[in-house]
Amino acid sequence: MGSTFIVANWKSNKTVAQTKDWFAQISSFKFSVSNKQIIICPSFTQLELVNKLINEYNLPFKVGAQDVSVFEQGAHTGEVSAEQIKEFAEYVIIGHSERRAAGETDKQIEIKIKEVLSLGMEPILCVQNEQTPIPQGVRIVAYEPPNAISTSGPDAKATDPKDVIKTVLEIKSKNPQLKVIYGGSVNGANVNSFTKMEEIDGVLPGAASLDPKEFAEIIKNA
Ligand code: PGA
Repeated sequence: MGSTFIVANWKSNKTVAQTKDWFAQISSFKFSVSNKQIIICPSFTQLELVNKLINEYNLPFKVGAQDVSVFEQGAHTGEVSAEQIKEFAEYVIIGHSERRAAGETDKQIEIKIKEVLSLGMEPILCVQNEQTPIPQGVRIVAYEPPNAISTSGPDAKATDPKDVIKTVLEIKSKNPQLKVIYGGSVNGANVNSFTKMEEIDGVLPGAASLDPKEFAEIIKNA
């Protein structure tokens, strides 16, 4: 796990046609992925297709889900269990601030992490600050200051890397083994200001990962 993580969080975006188009475009760009671990996290509905397209285009990308149910497989209408996700994903984002804002609790997050770990997947736990609890077994944490999320575009207001480092070091001081990545308005132009810092182990772009050209820039510049 010595590489730089680049975790694309597509959120509730992309239809089948848009996913196909994204892959057709990204495969036409040249970028080096040495020492980079690139993880694409689409909606549940696109997980199978994303796996298929990664194979078809022979891209060095891994697949992640954006959430998992607290329930195991069973009578839980509308839920997607860890066992179901395991067929398509190696990673699972857990505890994103958009989910916490919708009512997800630390207790639920702890259960989800256990589910994911018990099936051999790697959780990527999103935290809002150094005080967010980090359940046992977590190895990758995404520090995402809520006020830096979704400001991407020409006026992107990502957090100053110096401030990111302060929090990253506080998180690592309690658990030096953790990989800590940064998320919040990362784009092709600012990605290197984070990834060049030894303390920051990667990035988690949302909006900028939706555009294949911009995402290729992120990979190139990271
Ligand atoms: P953003 O999203 O890059 O669009 O700010 C990051 C995130 O919320 O994970």
